[in-house]
Amino acid sequence: MSELSVNHLLGIKYLNQEDIKLIFETADHFKEVINRPIKKVPSLRDITIANLFFENSTRTRLSFELAEKRLSADVINFSAAQSSLKKGETLIDTVNNILSMKVDMVVMRHPNPGAGIFLSRHVEANIINAGDGAHEHPTQALLDSYSIRERLGEVKGKNVVIVGDILHSRVALSNIFALQLQGAKVKVCGPKTLIPKHIEKLGVKVETNLRTALNWCDVANMLRVQNERMEISYFPSTREYTQQFGVTKKLLDSLDKNIVIMHPGPINRGVEITSDVADSDQAIILDQVENGVAIRMAIIYLLASKIKQ
Ligand code: NCD
Repeated sequence: MSELSVNHLLGIKYLNQEDIKLIFETADHFKEVINRPIKKVPSLRDITIANLFFENSTRTRLSFELAEKRLSADVINFSAAQSSLKKGETLIDTVNNILSMKVDMVVMRHPNPGAGIFLSRHVEANIINAGDGAHEHPTQALLDSYSIRERLGEVKGKNVVIVGDILHSRVALSNIFALQLQGAKVKVCGPKTLIPKHIEKLGVKVETNLRTALNWCDVANMLRVQNERMEISYFPSTREYTQQFGVTKKLLDSLDKNIVIMHPGPINRGVEITSDVADSDQAIILDQVENGVAIRMAIIYLLASKIKQ
């Protein structure tokens, strides 16, 4: 297969196995490109991309911008804090105005789940979801799986535990879909209050003991506690959370095997993982960041090649 089955990247739930395979093979090529002395290719010289960030972001926004620039696309950036949204403009109006400026593709992060899906039904442009509330974050899940494939050879057959605040995490849901699609087994681990009630319906097992979960897995994906999405207190104190669900070097060294540690960032050092874990050889956190650029180049390139036809 040489093209994606979708015109937008709204969530992993809309992709099939072949799409993921194609994205990874294309990313392999771009990873080689970004490690050359000249890191840029002219592929998207006639494409204009708008990055619309209605919610804070550092890594994802920079990673998309870099990916777009390395493909030679024209890029415009918009962040909600400085926009007319504050003056009462609707999402559709804001975006339509931007599209009148002849934008071909929109990368959007938005606090409302489904914002990208809504947009894709109303505007003519390819939409890439860069995180919609606590729903999906497809490019993060793709770069996570790609990084597992790079470190362990393949994703199929691997045991992956996602640890922490599953309830408020878009990274968790997209990872569950992506990992299962590729034949990995997934467990979630965290305080009961931060695990959605019916998560087992997704084919995911719940483990509340961190040591048991780590002894089972090949990879642990450590999530940040999303305090900004919490209106009530889900656990007694950060100290107690860390005691039960934080990964320390001592804990890692006491396991039967060498597991891989991942984190989507931003890390709260000393809360979900200690600094010596974040900086250890078992952690692939900076590989994830590097791979993020190659994965985003692949997705943008593959979606843009559908416009050009
Ligand atoms: C994640 C996000 O924004 O959902 N970060 C990211 O995209 N790198 C996770 C988080 O904020 O904890």
